[in-house]
Amino acid sequence: MFCLRNPSKTRVLLLLCLLITLSVARAQQGPTYDANVCANTSTYAPNSTYQTNLNQLLSSLSSNASQSDGYYNATAGQNNHGSTVYGAFLCRGDVTTDTCRDCVSNATSQVLQRCPNETNAVIWYDECLLQYSNESFFSTVQAIPMVLMLSTANITEQSPFTQLLGDTLNALADETANGGGGKKFATKEANFTSFQTLYTLGQCTPDLSSEDCNRCLQIIIAMLNSCCSGRTGARSLTPSCYIRFEMYLFYHVAASAPAPTPELTSTGMECAVYSLLS
Ligand SMILES: *[C@@H]1O[C@H](CO)[C@@H](O)[C@H](O)[C@H]1NC(C)=O
Ligand SMILES: *[C@@H]1O[C@H](CO)[C@@H](O)[C@H](O)[C@H]1NC(C)=O
Ligand SMILES: *[C@@H]1O[C@H](CO)[C@@H](O)[C@H](O)[C@H]1NC(C)=O
Ligand SMILES: *[C@@H]1O[C@H](CO)[C@@H](O)[C@H](O)[C@H]1NC(C)=O
Ligand SMILES: *[C@@H]1O[C@H](CO)[C@@H](O)[C@H](O)[C@H]1NC(C)=O
Ligand SMILES: *[C@@H]1O[C@H](CO)[C@@H](O)[C@H](O)[C@H]1NC(C)=O
Ligand SMILES: *[C@@H]1O[C@H](CO)[C@@H](O)[C@H](O)[C@H]1NC(C)=O
Ligand SMILES: *[C@@H]1O[C@H](CO)[C@@H](O)[C@H](O)[C@H]1NC(C)=O
Ligand SMILES: *[C@@H]1O[C@H](CO)[C@@H](O)[C@H](O)[C@H]1NC(C)=O
Repeated sequence: MFCLRNPSKTRVLLLLCLLITLSVARAQQGPTYDANVCANTSTYAPNSTYQTNLNQLLSSLSSNASQSDGYYNATAGQNNHGSTVYGAFLCRGDVTTDTCRDCVSNATSQVLQRCPNETNAVIWYDECLLQYSNESFFSTVQAIPMVLMLSTANITEQSPFTQLLGDTLNALADETANGGGGKKFATKEANFTSFQTLYTLGQCTPDLSSEDCNRCLQIIIAMLNSCCSGRTGARSLTPSCYIRFEMYLFYHVAASAPAPTPELTSTGMECAVYSLLS
């Protein structure tokens, strides 16, 4: 297996490990699905108040996506004890409002198909993440469940790369946690060799404080260090924060006119989901 010492003394379960072959020649627009986690702790009954509230919540998230600044949280059924549903979405800091709206719209329908009857769920795309739960998770650090996706290709000069990656991710975490403009989002580039550049991206949900954002990012950086050393790319996704790095430009650089086309990467991706056993 490719990963991972236990990140802490918490019991951790390797839920799935699959191989996705990404031949990214994305001509079509539209959101790119990454992963989802259905908590499986409980289900709601069809036609229950919880389902009604969930549907209302998802439609409120979806309809607010076009005028949000990339994050929106909502609560449905505040007065129904036990069937209140909390939800939020976060769009990646560099995507347009239209992309955000399309992603959230897709997420609201996909999450119901991928986690039928589930009381709690999270779904991640390249462009957004969406979560709902029967417990309020606003302003709290949730580093679990965590999804790791790693490129199967390795860097040849591993030790200088590990150093550069570590330094870059730490600086990235600082910038992300202190991100201005209402977003906790940053990107950072570093020259590895004269012809290889490292591109990194970090983001937290803006309801976290800078300290909590940094705490969340440090947890996933530790995880990336232990699982993904030497890989040419990886991402770590949690409900509260995420980091991604690649050896190609995968985000939109601010203020530069043409949106970069992601380079064709025919490398495979491995994916693992870690979740707490309760
Ligand atoms: C939930 O159940 C589905 C279907 O049985 C399974 O694929 C998934 O891994 C489970 N998720 C968790 C968090 O246990
Ligand atoms: C849920 O409600 C719909 C429409 O009111 C009804 O057709 C369906 O049979 C109900 N399902 C269950 C499981 O009660
Ligand atoms: C945004 O969501 C709120 C509930 O959180 C809802 O009342 C409002 O109608 C939504 N806005 C739009 C434009 O749908
Ligand atoms: C959104 O989250 C904040 C905490 O970050 C909370 O105070 C507020 O009530 C939430 N809004 C809704 C509509 O639930
Ligand atoms: C949420 O659901 C879980 C599992 O059914 C339950 O243990 C918990 O008490 C619920 N939380 C609330 C606030 O109802
Ligand atoms: C969501 O995306 C999937 C795959 O990209 C696509 O097949 C589906 O039609 C989309 N659904 C919506 C509602 O946009
Ligand atoms: C969801 O609940 C309905 C009604 O209880 C049931 O028929 C269906 O199999 C459930 N789906 C899943 C995936 O558990
Ligand atoms: C990259 O390194 C990992 C861990 O050392 C190894 O399992 C994997 O097979 C390597 N990938 C390639 C494409 O050589
Ligand atoms: C990387 O190298 C280019 C060309 O030498 C230089 O313009 C750029 O500033 C360097 N980037 C960083 C982050 O050092």
